[in-house]
Amino acid sequence: MGSKSPKKEQVAEMFDSISGQYDLLNHVLSLGVDRWWRRIMVQRARRCRPQSVLDVATGTGDSAIALKKSGATRIVGVDISAQMLKVAKAKPNAAGIEFVKADGEQLPFEDCCFDVVTIAFGIRNFEQRRQGLQEMRRVLKQNGTLIVLELSMPANKILRGIYKLYFLRIVPLMGGLISHNSYAYRYLPHSVDEFPPRKAFAGEVREAGFEKVKAAALSGGLATIYEARKK
Ligand SMILES: C[S@@+](CC[C@H](N)C(=O)[O-])C[C@H]1O[C@@H](n2cnc3c(N)ncnc32)[C@H](O)[C@@H]1O
Repeated sequence: MGSKSPKKEQVAEMFDSISGQYDLLNHVLSLGVDRWWRRIMVQRARRCRPQSVLDVATGTGDSAIALKKSGATRIVGVDISAQMLKVAKAKPNAAGIEFVKADGEQLPFEDCCFDVVTIAFGIRNFEQRRQGLQEMRRVLKQNGTLIVLELSMPANKILRGIYKLYFLRIVPLMGGLISHNSYAYRYLPHSVDEFPPRKAFAGEVREAGFEKVKAAALSGGLATIYEARKK
């Protein structure tokens, strides 16, 4: 991986520092619903009957592991945080998955080598989203599928109010208590708030050279799953 920018370095260090508690916090703070969202991502991937899948920003590998059910014979997970990858590699059901320390904005793979590329809760951390999307497109085979799973702001006012209260107050408090890194869990709601709304992000995906871009709200819009095809 080339030299990292200060922001990227900061993101990698932040995830390095919470890697040991990440899984626990993830399941607690999402009230377990992240597993269900991942399952939907795997179902979508499975429909493409892939032989090879790349999971970008794989973190502690839960999505890459879940993707074993996609039927792919080659699963690769990349992340910029060495410590998150260390947790991933230590998981007993991670056997057979290739984990590579790499930047999603500069993927170390040849053109057109994956049937499906997935990224779960990772794209909002990218410094240059457009560059990341173009890289994911580059490594996809012709007609390959990109699946992006990301947190989103619910459209319903009441749900949005509850969501903001939860993310701005409860998540930083619990995240800080468990991981001793409240910065990381203050960063989380901030990064969700900064991420473009559904239509705008779908437009970015299209601009990066994808077609048939679809977006579906999950759990009342708490998360969104995007699917797109490489032209
Ligand atoms: C919220 S975690 C999501 C991890 C995992 N996909 C999941 O579903 O639990 C975000 C991950 O994105 C990684 N990340 C952030 N920027 C990245 C980049 N430019 N390239 C690769 N990974 C990146 C972080 O290191 C972190 O592991």
